[in-house]
Amino acid sequence: MTKWSKELFSIFLLISIWNGVTLAFQKFPHTPAATRLPLVVVTNSTNPSEGDFGPFTFNTSTYGIQEAIDFVFHNGGGRIILKNGIYKLNGSTNLLPLDSSSTDRAALIRIPYPKSDFQYVPLTIEGEGNVWNYQEGNLGTTKPPTDGVIIQVVGNNTSVKKPAVIGIQMPPYGGSTYGFRNQVILSLGYITVRVPANSYWGAYDLYYGTSVDVHHAAADMDAPTADIPEPLFPSMIALQLPEVGSYGPSIVNGFFAVGYYGGILTSSHASLRAIFIQSCKNGFLTETNANHQNYIADLLIQWCPIGINMSHVQYYYIASYDAEQTVTSPAQKSWQKHINDIEFSAPGSVVIGHAHAVGSPGKLTTNNSTLLNIISSS
Ligand SMILES: *[C@@H]1O[C@H](CO)[C@@H](O)[C@H](O)[C@H]1NC(C)=O
Ligand SMILES: *[C@@H]1O[C@H](CO)[C@@H](O)[C@H](O)[C@H]1NC(C)=O
Ligand SMILES: *[C@@H]1O[C@H](CO)[C@@H](O)[C@H](O)[C@H]1NC(C)=O
Ligand SMILES: *[C@@H]1O[C@H](CO)[C@@H](O)[C@H](O)[C@H]1NC(C)=O
Ligand SMILES: *[C@@H]1O[C@H](CO)[C@@H](O)[C@H](O)[C@H]1NC(C)=O
Ligand SMILES: *[C@@H]1O[C@H](CO)[C@@H](O)[C@H](O)[C@H]1NC(C)=O
Ligand SMILES: *[C@@H]1O[C@H](CO)[C@@H](O)[C@H](O)[C@H]1NC(C)=O
Ligand SMILES: *[C@@H]1O[C@H](CO)[C@@H](O)[C@H](O)[C@H]1NC(C)=O
Repeated sequence: MTKWSKELFSIFLLISIWNGVTLAFQKFPHTPAATRLPLVVVTNSTNPSEGDFGPFTFNTSTYGIQEAIDFVFHNGGGRIILKNGIYKLNGSTNLLPLDSSSTDRAALIRIPYPKSDFQYVPLTIEGEGNVWNYQEGNLGTTKPPTDGVIIQVVGNNTSVKKPAVIGIQMPPYGGSTYGFRNQVILSLGYITVRVPANSYWGAYDLYYGTSVDVHHAAADMDAPTADIPEPLFPSMIALQLPEVGSYGPSIVNGFFAVGYYGGILTSSHASLRAIFIQSCKNGFLTETNANHQNYIADLLIQWCPIGINMSHVQYYYIASYDAEQTVTSPAQKSWQKHINDIEFSAPGSVVIGHAHAVGSPGKLTTNNSTLLNIISSS
C-alpha cells in the first residue's frame, strides 16, 4: 500500500466493497469510460474478496492478469494494480501471438490493440510495492527478489522464437514497412519479471508499442544462485522498446536487467534514464535514424562483453564516461575500449550522460549507491 494515494485507496475500498460477491466482469456497470476509467486490483490470492481478478478468475492461465488487462482495455483504458506476491505463470502453454506470425513473437501476457487507428488507450499496470534492487549486494551474484510483485515463469515453450512474458500486440491494420503501432499509451512499473535459467524467454517485448513508460521494473533472466552463467539464448532480451519507425517516445527509468543475452534494444525515440545491467552477451543496442533522438542519462553496466553498439547512430556525444573499477578480463577491456573508442562528435542523435562500467562477476566489490542515488534524484 506504500505508493497508493489515499484517494486511490478509498476508491479501491469502495470498489472492493461494492463488488465483494459479484463476478469480475460485472464490475463498473454504470461507469462511463469518459468520466472515470476503471481501476482494478489483481491479487495472487485464491480468495476473491482480495481483488477483482486473480487465480479465481474463470479459466485464467495468468492469475487473472490477462483478464484484468482485457477488461480495462475494453473499457477505454485505466489502471491495474497488482498486489504484492508471486504470480507463477506456466510458460509451457498458452502463448499468445503478438503478430501474424505466431512462431515469431508471442507473449504470455499481451497488451491488445485499439480497434481504430485514431484511438489511443491509456493503460497503467503497476505493482503496489517497490521493485527489487538488483544492484544491492549484487556484484557477481544474484540475490533473488523476496518482495514486491514477481511474475515468475515456469516451463519453457520453444515453439516460438521470441517468447516474452509481457508483450505488446501489433494491430492487424496499418502500412507496410513500419505499419501502425499499437496505440496504447502504456505505463508499466514496480514489477519484476523472472524467467527460468537457460530458457528461451525474454521479459518485456514492447516492440509494437507507440509510447511506453517503463519505470522501476526489473528483468531477472536467470536462476537466483551464485555466479551468473553466461546467458545462452538469443530470445533472452530483457527489454525491447518500440524500434525505428515508432511514433511515440519510450521512457525507461530505474530498470534492472540481470543475466540476459540480447541486451536492451532501443528505439529511435528512447529516453533512458537510470539503468543497471548485469551480464549481457550482445550488449546494448541503440538504434536511431534521421535526426530522431536517443537520450541515455545513466547507464551502470557490471558485465557486458560487447558493450554499447551504436552502429546506427549518425551523430553522438558522450558527456562523460566513468569506469568505477579497473577492468581486468579481455572481455571487459574490449567493452571499455568500445566506449573509449567512440569519438567525440557534434551533438546529435544520441546523448550519453554517464556510463559506468563495474568489474567482472564474482571478483570485484563496490558499493551499491550509484543507481540508488540516480533513482532517488530523478
Ligand atoms: C478456456 O481456456 C481455453 C484455453 O485458453 C480455451 O480453449 C477455452 O475456450 C476457454 N473456455 C472458455 C469457456 O472460455
Ligand atoms: C502469493 O505470493 C506469496 C508470496 O508473496 C506466496 O507465498 C503465495 O504462495 C502466492 N499465492 C499463490 C496462490 O500463488
Ligand atoms: C505447465 O504446463 C505443462 C504442459 O501442460 C505441464 O506439463 C506442466 O506440468 C505445467 N507446469 C506447472 C508447474 O504447472
Ligand atoms: C506454445 O505456444 C504456441 C504458440 O502460442 C502454441 O501453439 C503451443 O500450443 C504452445 N505449446 C504448448 C505445449 O502448449
Ligand atoms: C546496499 O545499500 C543498502 C541500503 O541502501 C544496504 O542496506 C545494503 O546492505 C547495501 N548492500 C551492500 C552489499 O553494500
Ligand atoms: C528450454 O529449452 C531449451 C531448448 O530446447 C533447452 O535447452 C533448455 O534447457 C530449456 N530450459 C528449461 C528451463 O527447460
Ligand atoms: C551492431 O549492430 C548491428 C545492427 O544490429 C549489427 O549488424 C552489428 O553486427 C553489431 N556490431 C557488433 C560489434 O555487435
Ligand atoms: C560508493 O561509490 C561512490 C561512487 O563511486 C563513491 O562516491 C562513494 O564514496 C562510495 N561510498 C562508499 C560508502 O564507499
